[in-house]
Amino acid sequence: MKKILKTILLILVATGLTACGNDTDSEDASGNSSSGGTTDVEIGENVLVAYFTEPEETGTDALAGASRVVEEGEVVGNTQFLAQIISEETGAELFQIDTVQEYPADHDELVDQGDQEQSEDARPELAAEIENLDDYDTIFVGYPNWFSDLPMPMYTFFESHDFADKTIIPFSTHGGSRLSGTIETIEELQPDAKVYDDALSISRSEVAGSRQTIIDWVNGI
Ligand SMILES: Cc1cc2nc3c(=O)[nH]c(=O)nc-3n(C[C@H](O)[C@H](O)[C@H](O)COP(=O)(O)O)c2cc1C
Repeated sequence: MKKILKTILLILVATGLTACGNDTDSEDASGNSSSGGTTDVEIGENVLVAYFTEPEETGTDALAGASRVVEEGEVVGNTQFLAQIISEETGAELFQIDTVQEYPADHDELVDQGDQEQSEDARPELAAEIENLDDYDTIFVGYPNWFSDLPMPMYTFFESHDFADKTIIPFSTHGGSRLSGTIETIEELQPDAKVYDDALSISRSEVAGSRQTIIDWVNGI
């Protein structure tokens, strides 16, 4: 049954037909029933914004994958766009979660590779780790929704960093699935961290116009 659902999702993602209607949400009505997370957090003194992004080339149909935003002449991924605004707003440093093996820019190839990694429960090797994690008390962590889950490099990321006693504030972009169960997954991967469960989740169709939404969300924490 899970396989059938995944196949349907894969087709929707590949054709860009996943619903793109929603903008920001805190995932109450959408199936994200956080349990161990909390909204009782404060942004500390020492803040880092870590994010994973894979901007795609979509050929003629820009809406099919629409995973990039042009910001002041520079092409950035959707999640990167959110990360940059959060960094500006908080004064936090940015850390891009990158893999040793580059992902294909082509939408279909990227979807195939992401699908294969998820099927294999892969842990793609990261190009770098956060070396001075001890210096930070609050880490915003951003990622795109991939197959209603975290992209597999995010598993590598959470399994190779210890966020015990730190605050994790997740944010995400998606093509219709919103946060899926990713907040619970982060809570499972980092049981000793405080995970903010009123996470930001923005549809790729809304990302380019979402600056104020992002700022309001940060200021509401
Ligand atoms: C491999 C892959 C799988 C995806 N799976 C989903 C999905 O299951 N649900 C969804 O809503 N969007 C899905 N998307 C769409 C991305 O979440 C969306 O385009 C996101 O904004 C990309 O962010 P980025 O530009 O920072 O990489 C998928 C995209 C890719 C490349």
